[in-house]
Amino acid sequence: MDILISSSVWDPKPWVEGLSKSDKIDKIHVWPTTANLDHVEVLFVWKPLDQGIIDRLPNLKWISSLGAGVDHLMGDPQIPSNIPMTRIVDPLLARDMTNYVIMGLMMYQRSMLTHLSNQRTSTWDRITYAPLKVGVMGLGALGKHLAERLVILGFEVFGYSRTSKEIEGVQCYDGSELSDFLSHAEVLVNLLPVTPQTENILNMDLFKQLPDQSYLINVARGNHLVQEDLITALDSKKLSGALLDVFRTEPLPVENPLWKHSKVTITPHVASVTTPTSAIELLLRNLALLEKGETLLHQVDLNRGY
Ligand code: NDP
Ligand code: OXD
Repeated sequence: MDILISSSVWDPKPWVEGLSKSDKIDKIHVWPTTANLDHVEVLFVWKPLDQGIIDRLPNLKWISSLGAGVDHLMGDPQIPSNIPMTRIVDPLLARDMTNYVIMGLMMYQRSMLTHLSNQRTSTWDRITYAPLKVGVMGLGALGKHLAERLVILGFEVFGYSRTSKEIEGVQCYDGSELSDFLSHAEVLVNLLPVTPQTENILNMDLFKQLPDQSYLINVARGNHLVQEDLITALDSKKLSGALLDVFRTEPLPVENPLWKHSKVTITPHVASVTTPTSAIELLLRNLALLEKGETLLHQVDLNRGY
């Protein structure tokens, strides 16, 4: 079987190297290519597909995102609705996301940015710290992993997801209970997928429902955030700060005011990056299932959008 990799953001080389060890794959094509793609049955994608790719794949049987998110594929009219789409669910991705959020949380709780700046002026200021209530929006592969680890670290943890969940030590709220959930979140961590229901969810109406001086950590997608509302909430002291890893336009344009906002900390979409060697194990497991005609792991519900 032939596969095609379309990766405009990540270097396809480690994927080609890892996948080429499989004896199930006859040929690996990398987009863009002028080769004949009639025998391609599998498409692996990271970030938007060029127009016309799907038309070149008359035998396509499966599409997989090379990351956890699939928002770059949803809403693309090229995507056929009659073949399975999967995504990466991987323990390393969950571990790295949890570690990143814990880093951000600790930096905030322990005023680390102020200590760093105080050091530059030889200032001895024993800033106190308080326990924090953390709200995790999205209790899927990443959010659940994070919430469980935060409990172990001694944080009071609140969780929010579309359907109700039971997670030991976490006070969980379902889709109808957003306001109750938000009223606890002194730190709000966004780990929702982008869908028509969640796009722009981080807006002024939501910020108003948080306790005063809450802190926002957005590690999901830039399209969740209404940037103007964030800046207003920060400037009016409704929010005390924000750690942002994801943006509507990436790389974040140099003229974007977020770069220079004193209450914003920015990282360049590095909270958790797919590790090809680990993700390839999952892709190959799915390839074997495809060959046997069985249901693939971690399929996306195309109607739900995640
Ligand atoms: P999952 O699909 O496993 O989990 C999504 C969670 O969000 C589920 O708990 C789901 O609820 C909940 N949810 C979805 N829609 C709604 C809604 N309308 N209202 C309330 N809850 C909702 O996703 P992952 O945990 O794997 O990943 C989450 C996101 O993280 C990805 O989509 C991606 O955008 C982002 N990401 C960012 C990275 C980075 O480096 N910054 C790296 C990897 C991922 P339910 O359980 O009821 O279905
Ligand atoms: C992902 C990401 O969705 O890296 O995997 O953002």
